[in-house]
Amino acid sequence: MLRAMPPSRDLMIRLHRLRELFLAEDRGDGALPDYWRDDGDLRAYDRVFAARIGWKWDAAMAECEDRGWRRDDHAVVLDYGCGTGIAARRFARRFGAREVLCHDRSPAAMRFAARAVVADDDRLRARAAPDLADVRPDVLLVSHVLGELDERGAAALQELIARSRRVVLVEPGNKATSRRLGELRARLLPTFAVIAPCPHATDCPALARRDDWCHFFAAPPPEVFTTGEWVLTARELGIDLRSLPYAFLALDREPSPLPAPPHRLLGRSDLGKHEHRVQLCTAAGLQETRVAKRHDPATFRALKKEPQTVRWLPPAAP
Ligand SMILES: C[S@@+](CC[C@H](N)C(=O)[O-])C[C@H]1O[C@@H](n2cnc3c(N)ncnc32)[C@H](O)[C@@H]1O
Repeated sequence: MLRAMPPSRDLMIRLHRLRELFLAEDRGDGALPDYWRDDGDLRAYDRVFAARIGWKWDAAMAECEDRGWRRDDHAVVLDYGCGTGIAARRFARRFGAREVLCHDRSPAAMRFAARAVVADDDRLRARAAPDLADVRPDVLLVSHVLGELDERGAAALQELIARSRRVVLVEPGNKATSRRLGELRARLLPTFAVIAPCPHATDCPALARRDDWCHFFAAPPPEVFTTGEWVLTARELGIDLRSLPYAFLALDREPSPLPAPPHRLLGRSDLGKHEHRVQLCTAAGLQETRVAKRHDPATFRALKKEPQTVRWLPPAAP
């Protein structure tokens, strides 16, 4: 039985307000007014929503690492639309940084994020960066921001990307935002190499049909399901703790030294008793295929128990 202090009323009121504003997975695109009222809002967000976003970053970063993304302890890393700075914290933990610049339209968010980055790793330097006119980051991070930008914001981000050496965007795995990410990818393909998740550098096949979108599911740490505070908070917010859909894109001016995998599994597999149906992204388009328990028991089991560990299928036995 779970025994825990229920989350405080203040925390829940703040989280409910934020969730209604922007965290519903089915929210379409659209600019929002500045919603951070004080540090209490940022602390509440950081405890629950940013933690969930951090797990998406962990999944995306693990894939980047496997695809050849290099660590760089001398990099100037810019977290654009930083909120509480979770993207910078998760990125720097795995890939290092010399200095982290925290940019947001909210001064309170920039201050909070800079403090949180240093609290996470006191070897890092971090500061608020309200003015980006002369900034040319080594690494630009964008996390859960695309869907909030109006045309002006999107144009400003595009200019910043043009001045960046490497870029990682991690966004909610909903259809509207994922397709927006795909359209951005198309505009950037002539100048950047895609490090992850795409297994090819051709047009995004998920954009070809209106009903497709490129997304994945991250796994939260297992203790979340047994930690009373998490369980009670999620229940009260109506959040499914198991479901962490995300879309992402990692770009570099230099191509990866590693060969690309043959394809990338997308979305959630359609699980069956004897076989699972999976969707693959390939240079030739999206393909559906089946994984039969009889032919490939290991992958069959992994797709059921730890689907996030299966990014591509082993070649079929001859
Ligand atoms: C959903 S929050 C995501 C925060 C953080 N990146 C994360 O992943 O947890 C979106 C952030 O983008 C900021 N934002 C929205 N529009 C912006 C703009 N035009 N310029 C800079 N920041 C913006 C908001 O203030 C907010 O902090």
